[in-house]
Parts: sequence; structure tokens; C-alpha cells
Amino acid sequence: MATARQRRTRTRTTRNPRRRASARRAPSRAQARRPDALRMLKDDHQKVKEMFGRFERAQSSTKEGLARTICEELKVHAQLEEEVFYPAVREAIDDEDMMEEAEIEHDTAKYLIAKIEASSPSDESFDACVKVLGEYIQHHVKEEEGEMFKKVRRSRLDTAALGEQMKERKGELIGESARGRDRGRRGIGSRLFGRSA
Ligand SMILES: [Fe+2]
Ligand SMILES: [Fe+2]
Repeated sequence: MATARQRRTRTRTTRNPRRRASARRAPSRAQARRPDALRMLKDDHQKVKEMFGRFERAQSSTKEGLARTICEELKVHAQLEEEVFYPAVREAIDDEDMMEEAEIEHDTAKYLIAKIEASSPSDESFDACVKVLGEYIQHHVKEEEGEMFKKVRRSRLDTAALGEQMKERKGELIGESARGRDRGRRGIGSRLFGRSA
């Protein structure tokens, strides 16, 4: 025969099973706030896509500022992928060729970014460089989201844990970028990419 204590325990654990099940399913606030690596990168992609669109419609007086912002955004994004995301993906999926291609595409984008940063709207090639960079990034994003991200989703990579790491590193990179601008530098390009164009 059950003791009074055993009866109390049984009552607590069996009462309202629906409530206990939903409590198990509901993510905690901390879990709900966890950034997902793929979501973060897709948000960045969308943000720069919109900025390239704004550049095309912009008056010449605002083009330089917009182009500089696009370059800063892309440099932080590329650095984040190269430092944190790509190495994790390389380990999680077996596709060295795809990863090499992505890194080479970053190099080409950096060349164009450096060219834009070294010029101004008064240069004839300025608009053309931004346009080509926009098209190039569009192509790169299509491959990342259409191929790489699909493979990541099918892998065992913990994109939530990776997102945490990326969020922290992105905060640092944005800080570095802002400090570089404050010091009147051309941005974080030379430090982030380890070379000048
Ligand atoms: Fe990307
Ligand atoms: Fe990329």
C-alpha cells in the first residue's frame, strides 16, 4: 500500500498531463532567442540585396555613403563566414570543391570592394563597379542558399550553437569596423582580409 508521501508524489506527476507535455515542447525564452546560423546569413543577404537596390535608385549625392555601407556590410559578412561558418561547414559536409569555390568568390568580391573603396562617384567606373559587385554577390548568394545551406540542413551541424558563436563574433567585427571608420581609415578591409588591393 502506498504511503502518504508516495501518493502525493504520484498526484504531482500525473496531474494535468497535457500541461506537462506542452511545457516540454515550448522552448525557453533563451532558446527562442538563440540565433540560427543560416537565418543570420540569409538576413544579411537580404539586407545587402536591398541596399544594392537602393543604390540603383539613389541620387548621386547619396551613392557614395550607400556604397561604403554596402562594402562594410559585405566585409563583415565575408569575414564571419570565413572565420566561423565555412570551417564548420567544411567539417560537417564533404564537399571541398564547393567550399573552395565559395572562398574564391569571396576573393573576387573583395577585389571589387577594394576598388570601390579606393574610388568615388566622380570616377567613371564607380557605378559600374558597384553594379558588377551587386550582380556578383547575387550569384554567390544563390549558390550559398541554393546549395551550401541545403547541404548544411541535411547535415548534423548544430546551426543554433553555431549561430551563438557567429552572433558574438559579428558583434566584435562590427565594433572593429566602426572603430576603423572613426579613425578615418578606409574601413576594416586591409585588417580583415590581410592584404590591400
Ligand atoms: Fe553569404
Ligand atoms: Fe559567402
